[in-house]
Amino acid sequence: MDYSVKINGETRQVEAEPGTPLLWVIRDELRLTGTKFGCGVASCGACTVHLDGEPVRSCQTYIEDIEGSEITTIEAVSADPVGAAVQQAWAELDVVQCGYCQSGQIMSAIGLLRETPKPDVSEINDYMSGNVCRCATYQRIRAAVQRASEILEA
Ligand code: FES
Ligand code: FES
Repeated sequence: MDYSVKINGETRQVEAEPGTPLLWVIRDELRLTGTKFGCGVASCGACTVHLDGEPVRSCQTYIEDIEGSEITTIEAVSADPVGAAVQQAWAELDVVQCGYCQSGQIMSAIGLLRETPKPDVSEINDYMSGNVCRCATYQRIRAAVQRASEILEA
């Protein structure tokens, strides 16, 4: 079937079977490879993108469920002030180790800061708990979320 996908400010046409995970549409059809495959079962957060501004797991979101919605991936977050602040904080604090989980971490961090502009440590831990980092960069992630909050407040 043909589907129209609104992604990163553009409308793209894709051909996919109903039931195709959005993650595969993003990576294989649209060639936006910043979004990663980790577990495939909504347990790791590596595949997180925004659907109408809210973080979702693209491995468990299906092509037929996104009609009319706006998808944003890591490739476009710098266009948004919260996204730009998060990316700046991530760079300043050198959060990334291997990097595999970090697109998903950043997408979730943006969701958190939109909802809670000045999160405390427990709010960060709660919100980010679905994003797993096999390199255990959690301390730096927490610090970078707080730094992004300061950047946005300035
Ligand atoms: S790949 Fe989607 S949550 Fe792990
Ligand atoms: S930085 Fe390696 S998995 Fe998170």
